[in-house]
Amino acid sequence: MSAQVMELETLPKIEIEKITESKLPTIDFDNLPFGKTFSDHMMICEYYDGKWQSAKIQPYQNISVSPACNVFHYGQAVFEGMKAYYKQDDSGIVLFRPEKNWERLNKSAVRMSMPEVPKELFMEGIKKLVELDKDFIPKKAGSSLYIRPFIIGTEPFIGVRTSDRYLFMIIIGPTGPYYGEPISVLVYDTFVRSTKGGYGNAKAAGNYAGTLYPRELATQMGYKDVLWLDGEHKKYANEVGTMNIFFVMDGKLVTPETDGTILEGITRDSVITIAKSLGYTVEERPISIDEIVEAHESGKLTEMFGTGTAAVVNVVNRFGYKGKDYLLDDKAFTIAPEIKKELEGIQKCTLEDKFGWVVNVL
Ligand code: COI
Repeated sequence: MSAQVMELETLPKIEIEKITESKLPTIDFDNLPFGKTFSDHMMICEYYDGKWQSAKIQPYQNISVSPACNVFHYGQAVFEGMKAYYKQDDSGIVLFRPEKNWERLNKSAVRMSMPEVPKELFMEGIKKLVELDKDFIPKKAGSSLYIRPFIIGTEPFIGVRTSDRYLFMIIIGPTGPYYGEPISVLVYDTFVRSTKGGYGNAKAAGNYAGTLYPRELATQMGYKDVLWLDGEHKKYANEVGTMNIFFVMDGKLVTPETDGTILEGITRDSVITIAKSLGYTVEERPISIDEIVEAHESGKLTEMFGTGTAAVVNVVNRFGYKGKDYLLDDKAFTIAPEIKKELEGIQKCTLEDKFGWVVNVL
């Protein structure tokens, strides 16, 4: 099925069942961790008989599915991360480049042999849910409403093949920053997160599950997360933690190219566009760990940072490789904060949206 061919009028209206009592008074908006608090409602839509059925927005609750579902055994699961913001002047609510998330969700779904979601279902589901739970959007700087659309395979069958039943769901919640501080990372020359021909560019659950054990070991060694190298040579920078990675070398921004092994980050793309508009040179190319170490030793490596929806722009101030630690003075970084300021300004509508990225919800 191709989502693009499904017209709006073929989609049944999204039914809404409201909560009887809001959890809003129980939320401490001054102390929001990332990803632990959810709003009053969620959207749920079933897929069976070869098509998406009618969607429903209902009170946020546990779901009941068979323990034999594909998602529990073979991990047929893809997701997206998005954010909604109050405009700084309180004149409305906006989403940032939501069409890109819809496109990427479907790209991930195709790679994991799952059905694509029609654009109208994705957009309307998010808009209606955000509108309904708008009071959950935090106003504090660094906080936002995180939106998590996802699809899981739910056919009760433990043979290894594509599921014939799915759930498309959207959950949302007020959230604080993902890391919230500069991070230190360990560079492994053993574990990798993806390799050519794999599915490192899909936002699939399995890509994250496989990183947990190496990440856990890295935290035991005193690092916050991992700087992943490529799967073939264990030599070229791939991603950092849950983010795309950028280096500033010789005043130029350098980031790995999208070769199928890294996530095609929407924040990554936005950062590249903003950097170019600010007059910086951006190189998308393989960057070996030897080049990074040499650039550090010669003083050419002046900044290092990750980008992602959850983390936005997060600086890296230490990396460990082959038993040696390399420090960066994040207080002296200038390009990462400049780009972050510009990006957040566009997202929160305090700066002109010169690239046409912001979409009004309300
Ligand atoms: C995001 O940046 O929104 C992501 O989806 C990464 C996530 C695993 C926290």
